Amino acid sequence: MLSALPPVPIPATGPVDTSPIALTPALGSDLDAIWQSVVPETRTRSNDIHLPISLAYAERLCAAYPGAHRQVVRVAILLHDTGWGRVDESRIISEGFGGDWRKAEIRFEHERQGCIIAQTVLPPLGYDDEFVTSVCGIIDGHDTRKEAESLEDALVRDADRLWRFDHAGIALASGWFGLDPATYCDRLAREIIPELLTEAAIAMANADLRRSNALLKTSVLR
Ligand SMILES: [Fe+2]
Ligand SMILES: [Fe+2]
Repeated sequence: MLSALPPVPIPATGPVDTSPIALTPALGSDLDAIWQSVVPETRTRSNDIHLPISLAYAERLCAAYPGAHRQVVRVAILLHDTGWGRVDESRIISEGFGGDWRKAEIRFEHERQGCIIAQTVLPPLGYDDEFVTSVCGIIDGHDTRKEAESLEDALVRDADRLWRFDHAGIALASGWFGLDPATYCDRLAREIIPELLTEAAIAMANADLRRSNALLKTSVLR
């Protein structure tokens, strides 16, 4: 079901839209039943902002990479961080964003819980075993595993990062890391753009970051 991972950065084979993400919200209502099943889990860690914006980016990436299994990518990004809703909230900021946050135990826990949520929510909505296994394979390790394992995995990872380049993502995530917006924008350019796996995401991130830096006047507010 999943496609082999090409060498990175992966060149786009379809159209790349670098306009502001607010211009292209996620399409359709076919995922509404999944959204409705995870409303409580969206209330943690601003998932109700992060997940819909990252889904919109994921759909753009699927247009740029038409060879990817679009539905797996869409469902995996929608559910990938719902596990945060099942872990101890007081540990999210203290452990999830401090020190070596990528390896914090709470990160592994949110991935495990996300898989349990996917396994609970998807089968009653008609998703078969193979589909659920593919989605869980992407959710499990999305933060803690170093390498992407498929094209779909790469698109989910990039969509998970891209929302941070929009001014909504900067507003929320700069606070999580205790950084002012200008310092956070610098970190996005220095640390997050080099982590992106697809050429389409790199183009989107650079365009968003240019707009966000201008909008937030980070050249003087520093
Ligand atoms: Fe995550
Ligand atoms: Fe995420």
